[in-house]
Amino acid sequence: MNGLQSKLHEQLVAFNQEHVLAFWDELADNEKENLTIQIQSIDFNLFALHQSKQIDSKSKQIEPCEVLALDATYKKQGVASIENGEIGILTVAGGQGTRLGWSGPKGTFPATPVTGKSLFQLIAEQILCASKKYKTTIPWYIMTSIENDSATRSFLIDNNCFGLKRTDIFIFTQGEIPAVDTDGNMLLETKSNIAMNPDGHGGVISALRQSGGLDEMSTRGVKYLSYVQVDNPLANAIDPNFIGLHLSEKSSTEASSKCVLKIDPDERVGVFCKVNGNLEVVEYSDLPEDKANECDGEGKLVYAGGSIAMHIFTVEFLQRIADDLPWHKANKKVPCINLQTGEQCKLESPNAYKFEKFVFDVLPLASNSIVVETKRNEEFAPIKNTTGQDSPETSHNMQRERATSWLRSRGVDISGGAIIEISPLAGACAEDLNEAELPKAIGSDEIVVI
Ligand code: UD1
Repeated sequence: MNGLQSKLHEQLVAFNQEHVLAFWDELADNEKENLTIQIQSIDFNLFALHQSKQIDSKSKQIEPCEVLALDATYKKQGVASIENGEIGILTVAGGQGTRLGWSGPKGTFPATPVTGKSLFQLIAEQILCASKKYKTTIPWYIMTSIENDSATRSFLIDNNCFGLKRTDIFIFTQGEIPAVDTDGNMLLETKSNIAMNPDGHGGVISALRQSGGLDEMSTRGVKYLSYVQVDNPLANAIDPNFIGLHLSEKSSTEASSKCVLKIDPDERVGVFCKVNGNLEVVEYSDLPEDKANECDGEGKLVYAGGSIAMHIFTVEFLQRIADDLPWHKANKKVPCINLQTGEQCKLESPNAYKFEKFVFDVLPLASNSIVVETKRNEEFAPIKNTTGQDSPETSHNMQRERATSWLRSRGVDISGGAIIEISPLAGACAEDLNEAELPKAIGSDEIVVI
């Protein structure tokens, strides 16, 4: 063994992972370099720890939680905070559109029914519109993954950042974590590559810290982050009512969340619950069936608050908690090679565990976390699957319906069948629309873009 090899070996032996050097002698110099960088990037102490710090769902006591109404009571406070430049937008966009059958970063997916604007463009235009309306700067923090970082950057640059200043967009990359087999051993994807996976959207807190994002916010005076997933074209990223409630003395919270009422017990959304006394999101796969189906005297679901993954976080709170999130473990098929033969393993069933952090696990760490209900037809039409529920088709329909209802509320006479798209540049709610620039009527065969 040469110096480097024995140093790596020593490091790995301490954690019983020296098998990842099995093909070292066969590797070309650049491959050795690649593997060395990968090994050195792994925090082995954390790696050992994460196996002991997993969620133990059996010991959880799950109860219904209080859901507040969202109205305009605290709008003034919200508007003042936006005008003072205290708000930043945080978007987690590390996912590939695998379920959607889209090869690029999910944020590049064409999402609107008429012009096919991308998911990124929809958020960018909301920021642009609000920056003008409130005469302020709203920085945008975008988390990518190692896999989609350069494609995301190129997409934004090629599209001139959709009119935003490049200096007001902070792009940072989430971390990765090794997958392990059932004995806790790391796997080799190739002879010179350890099988790793992105550390989940909950990796956003440590990635923000490590990339300097949290410091950048402090320098700018950004005190609150509006968190939105990239996959929901109806998400209102800059909502003064929601921001105002978060800031109000009444709630004095460090983390606020929005929910919609679940359509049915099986809807695949996380559910807001009290878990061991604290507000938490319990993933649909983890909510016991009897609870998911439990109804009150009027036949309404007791666990009804479905998470739409929209939150306001106080920046100081994120600075305080940093790396304290637990790991969730999922049994998956992870492509790997046989350590004896070097050949690709044939996988018929899951062979390994992947580990991920979830951003909503910050909620129980916050002082007085709250959840408010918003209307599904105003704020939730995600694009996740190629067809069926949460597909481009269902999202287009909901986008059209919301556009129609906004225009009708402004007095526009609309015949059924018209296809309408409202640009985020025109406003974030029906009241924002400038009546002077709206048509008086729209016929059933018309396609209109406002
Ligand atoms: C998620 C929530 C669910 C919620 C639903 C609302 C989880 C585990 N579940 O489900 O509670 O009701 O949204 O739409 O989050 N991402 C990263 N890095 C990663 C993984 C994901 O940035 O490593 C981003 C994706 O780009 C996407 C978002 O996180 O913007 C959601 O991820 P996804 O895994 O698709 O969550 P869902 O199963 O849709």
